[in-house]
Amino acid sequence: MAFVLVVDDEIGVRESLRMLLKSEFDVETSPDVETALRIIGDRLPDLIILDLVMPGRGGIDLLRELRDRGMAVPVVVLTASNTIDAAVGAMKLGAADFITKPFEVEALRIKLRQLLQHRELEREVARLRDEVAGRERLGRMTGKSPVMLELFRTIERIADSKVSVLISGESGTGKELVAQAIHDVGPRHDKPFIAVNCGAIPHDLMESELFGHERGAFTGAHDQRIGRFEAANGGTLLLDEIGELDPSLQVKLLRALQEKKIERLGNPHSIDVDCRIITATNRNLEREIETGRFRSDLFYRINVITVELPPLRERREDVRLLADTFIERIGKEDGRKLHFDATAIAAIERYTWPGNVRELENAVERGAALCQSGLIRLEDLPDSIVSSGRSDRLREELRTGSGAFEETVGRFECELLLEALERQRWNQTRAAEDLGVTRRVLKLKMDRFDIVAPDIEAGE
Ligand SMILES: Nc1ncnc2c1ncn2[C@@H]1O[C@H](COP(=O)(O)OP(=O)(O)OP(=O)(O)O)[C@@H](O)[C@H]1O
Ligand SMILES: [Mg+2]
Repeated sequence: MAFVLVVDDEIGVRESLRMLLKSEFDVETSPDVETALRIIGDRLPDLIILDLVMPGRGGIDLLRELRDRGMAVPVVVLTASNTIDAAVGAMKLGAADFITKPFEVEALRIKLRQLLQHRELEREVARLRDEVAGRERLGRMTGKSPVMLELFRTIERIADSKVSVLISGESGTGKELVAQAIHDVGPRHDKPFIAVNCGAIPHDLMESELFGHERGAFTGAHDQRIGRFEAANGGTLLLDEIGELDPSLQVKLLRALQEKKIERLGNPHSIDVDCRIITATNRNLEREIETGRFRSDLFYRINVITVELPPLRERREDVRLLADTFIERIGKEDGRKLHFDATAIAAIERYTWPGNVRELENAVERGAALCQSGLIRLEDLPDSIVSSGRSDRLREELRTGSGAFEETVGRFECELLLEALERQRWNQTRAAEDLGVTRRVLKLKMDRFDIVAPDIEAGE
């Protein structure tokens, strides 16, 4: 239901509008501008009906505040018929329409419907425009691989409903960001988003963390404390690393989810809670069920929709884009211009990123901190990235029999040459020194493997 805020100093007007509109809209009222601003700060209305003339601050003030805060809410101005001039002034400040008092109920209803529909259409157009432009981000997430683009669409589709979503993926793939995006895109975006890491809190404190406790409920409970369920009321609760949850708590969680009620420790009175539940795990919960560590009834409750985040090595198209996104962000934060040189980029693109996006983000941060004059070079990146990618891959090929011995050794040699050359920024004298061969031997080998120095200035 669309949320409509009525701001008018006359209680008669407020209450009659509430009665007239409440079957179709979620209506809240405010007698003055201050209260209205407080309500708006809590939850942005879909539409505001605003009286212009009120004692104290008038409707024009509210319009100005909305404009200054960049809040694009359609406002319908209520005016007495003799203040049409003021209404025109209000329209100039961005009011969408005005109605004169006394008003015709049906006409008002139709006007509100039209404005709300118009707003929906505007949102839809913006979304389609993004889609056509091949947008490569959603919320704080970046990606252009087919799986990520598909994921963005899935998030938008499921954000509107309240179905439970289970996000699975290796550590560092962005599970928390997905949960946050589902919340941000959905209708609860102006309500709290609360994340609980079920793996980070000791088992014996977890129950109180989730459900809260009364003062004196257990040794050490000096004060009353509300749990994460209550804190997330009306909004979204992310239960991260759900696979770590103790079996006895799995039962209690299941009950809370089924009944939409919780009890604080030390208080038998139950409290209604309404939150959207998102869970995340880097474990295979189906396997955990087989081994008896996870309850299947809880699994079915939380897993209405699964979102799988593939590891970064399976969406290589995103690597470069992510690296560029991070370097740009860090540059902005530090107020300097940062870029990668060709060797760093080559290594970043080649590496397998076992720690996924988090590892990439950390590597770029480290590179940015170590580099001089804003150019991140191969040696500014962590060693693992510089060296491991190649030999690991070759060893794997040899082990699985997908490369013949001679050929693999040849490629190993070639990789070693490339590595030394890149490390020395294509200075052949120093690369040869590194490898313990003469410059002439290096040159011969480079010719044999068709290695050509890239078009960058050699660090002679
Ligand atoms: N698609 C993405 N675009 C931009 N940043 C991302 C993306 N995916 C992940 N990140 C960043 O990588 C880091 C790790 O992401 P996140 O914490 O969401 O991963 P996770 O899957 O929850 O990891 P864990 O299982 O270890 O909790 C964060 O700093 C996040 O901002
Ligand atoms: Mg996480």
